[in-house]
Amino acid sequence: MIDFSELIKKSREERIKEQFKGTFLDYLEILKHEPSVCILAHKRMYDIIVRKGVEVINTTENPRLRRIYGNTVIKQYNFFKSDFFGINKTLMEIVKYFHSASMEGEECRQVLYLVGPVGAGKSSLMEALKKGLEESEAIYIIKGCPVREEPLHLVPRHLRNQFEEMLNVRIEGDLCPVCRYRLKNDYQGEFEKFPVQTIDFSIRGRKGIGVVPPVDPNNQDTSVLIGSVDISKLDLYPEDDPRVMSLNGAFNVGNRGIVEFIEVFKNEVEYLHAMITATQEKSIPSPGKGSMIYFDGIILAHSNEAEWNKFKADHTNEAILDRIVKVEVPYCLELDEEIKIYNKLLNKSKFTAHIAPHTIEIASMFAILTRLIASPKVDPLTKLKIYNGEEIVEKGSTKKVDIMELREESPREGMMGISTRFIMKSLDTSISESDHNCINPIGVLETLIKSVKDLSIREDDKKKYLNFLQDTIKKEYHKILEREVTKAFIHGYREQAEDLFNNYLDHAEAYVNKTKIKDKNTGEDLEPDEEFLRSIEEQLNIPDSAARGFRQDVTTYMFYVMRSGGKIDYSSYEPLKEAIEKKLTFSVKELSRVITRTKVRDKDQNEKYNAMVEEMKRSGYCDHCCNVILKYAANNLWKD
Ligand SMILES: Nc1ncnc2c1ncn2[C@@H]1O[C@H](COP(=O)(O)OP(=O)(O)OP(=O)(O)O)[C@@H](O)[C@H]1O
Ligand SMILES: [Mg+2]
Repeated sequence: MIDFSELIKKSREERIKEQFKGTFLDYLEILKHEPSVCILAHKRMYDIIVRKGVEVINTTENPRLRRIYGNTVIKQYNFFKSDFFGINKTLMEIVKYFHSASMEGEECRQVLYLVGPVGAGKSSLMEALKKGLEESEAIYIIKGCPVREEPLHLVPRHLRNQFEEMLNVRIEGDLCPVCRYRLKNDYQGEFEKFPVQTIDFSIRGRKGIGVVPPVDPNNQDTSVLIGSVDISKLDLYPEDDPRVMSLNGAFNVGNRGIVEFIEVFKNEVEYLHAMITATQEKSIPSPGKGSMIYFDGIILAHSNEAEWNKFKADHTNEAILDRIVKVEVPYCLELDEEIKIYNKLLNKSKFTAHIAPHTIEIASMFAILTRLIASPKVDPLTKLKIYNGEEIVEKGSTKKVDIMELREESPREGMMGISTRFIMKSLDTSISESDHNCINPIGVLETLIKSVKDLSIREDDKKKYLNFLQDTIKKEYHKILEREVTKAFIHGYREQAEDLFNNYLDHAEAYVNKTKIKDKNTGEDLEPDEEFLRSIEEQLNIPDSAARGFRQDVTTYMFYVMRSGGKIDYSSYEPLKEAIEKKLTFSVKELSRVITRTKVRDKDQNEKYNAMVEEMKRSGYCDHCCNVILKYAANNLWKD
């Protein structure tokens, strides 16, 4: 049994032990040994990100990534790795911003602004950064300071140069009005006695993390940003007394950490002026009549593209535009990565449904197809495969389509189309409507079709989307399915493939050497069975005139393999393997007829069927979806 009270007690003791409480003098001792404890907000964030590790992807060693990225250097940050997929470029830009800002370049005086379509992960990226802060080590603050300021602010101006040299740090910023008042009145200017403590970041506790939701345009009171004057205290103190201030605005709360503006451009421009001063001057107005208050924090903002365009078009906004580092957050365009997004979301949810192979793949395929911009060079599905790093040769030519050229054709690709949220909702619907707690590609395709029909989008987009679902993807799924069922079948009947192979070899050899074949049962000498040989060769469209040559090649090759000590089986010689598999696929067609007729299967057919089912189950099907899929295959594939 777990002793909860013991656990709680232990954890509390540990936290108290970790917590530092002392005077400013004690703090100086700590600083002397560890100057990094007084770093500024951007540097802290940068350290949090890179501390978890960076992997530089060597594209020369990975052909798939090489096809996608060419020679570009790709860095993968572990900080984002398990939660974000297919947006490497965006992540690299974000980290680059923090890197420059941490060196106290111009970026530390700029807003990091993310723009992208709905459901592309903007909020999640913000969330990740905020969580990063929460998990990082505690910071040192002046005890009781409403904006949790850096204790070094206590050092008076005339001593700063000396302190900076002795400690090997840079001191930036001045005391907030509240602490200035306390220093003068409570400590009589003896700043070394001021208490200092450590404190953690907390999203919910509004400690070091301030959030500004879009504000009602009729009530754009700046107190949300910079706090307010507490009217009830005006009877006690004069209006410019720091004790009347409630420093609880987002900039006060987010000092040393993050201030996040959600849907930033929904706010009035005047309202955004606090943002300008905060970035450019690193200070914000105090409520009431007080002086400016030093601010050190990361300002994050995000919105969709329409809002950005509207805002950008207005010339009066130039001052703000000049202080923004814009990073685009497009949708993922890599199939394999898109699949990971839904697997992540499904793993986080409480759904326990079984998911048949290729289900997420089919849904992801749809998402990406809607996001791609048509190219005269390739059809949409081929483009999808190229973007996914698959080796593609254009039909009827040996020239490869250049991925860089495709990208250049449509620089805005990824900024529109179906959102992750739409796909996720469709998957959820599919799951909740499934009767055996199991979803499969066929059901999901149907749900997607229904959901697209309900969308209020342009008619021609709708038509295009439906065409993807009902034609492009369906056909592609049929190909995948045919390959899969055949594989299950051939695997279950490897013996059958071997039988065909051995027979073919015997007869071909006899034919080439003009000998006879001994019947295993009767011992009778038989002529090689040309009809049988042709039935295999026809699978490869080998004409009568070329049959002899093919048989010769096969026998010579097998002879050569055996002589050099190799073992032969049906897959030894690629063309023959292909022919045998095709012949077997043909048997699958016949078998497909029995799949649907449970009652008339004979014993032999039943055995074959069961072996196939077992193989399908090994590759991830459950009893239910295996049944559904096989029936679907029987009815929709192999139709003559
Ligand atoms: N590239 C991606 N990698 C991982 N997860 C993603 C990606 N894109 C979207 N998601 C997931 O999709 C969901 C929706 O994303 P999120 O809410 O962050 O989007 P948003 O850009 O803020 O959208 P909105 O503009 O509607 O606010 C989240 O659960 C997010 O984790
Ligand atoms: Mg959002």
